[in-house]
Amino acid sequence: MKARANNNIVLIGFMGVGKGTVARELVEQSKFFAIDCDDLIESLENRTIKKIFEESGEKYFRELERKTAKWLEKNVKNSIISTGGGFYKVENLKKIGTIVYLQSSFDAIFERILHHPNAKHKLAKRPLLKDLKKAQNIFNDRIKKYKKCADITINVENRTAKEIAKEILNMF
Ligand code: S3P
Repeated sequence: MKARANNNIVLIGFMGVGKGTVARELVEQSKFFAIDCDDLIESLENRTIKKIFEESGEKYFRELERKTAKWLEKNVKNSIISTGGGFYKVENLKKIGTIVYLQSSFDAIFERILHHPNAKHKLAKRPLLKDLKKAQNIFNDRIKKYKKCADITINVENRTAKEIAKEILNMF
């Protein structure tokens, strides 16, 4: 696989699938630095994602994602970029880097979140996970779309972040 010109690896996939964890493992196993889109948005706005959703709504949050995507395209090279679950919709996605989709079933994602030592916080900070049925609908709507915009799809179910990161790095 030939990396795109800016040499970034962009991790996409559903909320709670482990994009952040895999990004940290990729950093361990490479010389890359990692950037997280939600962290960029929070520092840009000086408030949490939860607050942005509550105070300004989802539409405004999606505008911030598009703004962040443009900034990443222009300014970031040689990095691991982890994204929020809805970031795949930005129109310049492919211009940011090579797109790696972390794929898992809905049940496995929820198991992962619920068994996490910090489960309460993981759920509380994600407004779109408040209602399980709605979250399942969003998941069903997105699975094909994630796959469609990915350069590489990696099945992450029942695998450690170490194994996943190794597989990703071996592809370049
Ligand atoms: C969202 C995912 C979240 C965050 C926001 C919206 C989504 O990020 O960007 O709550 O639309 O799927 P994570 O995927 O890191 O949970």
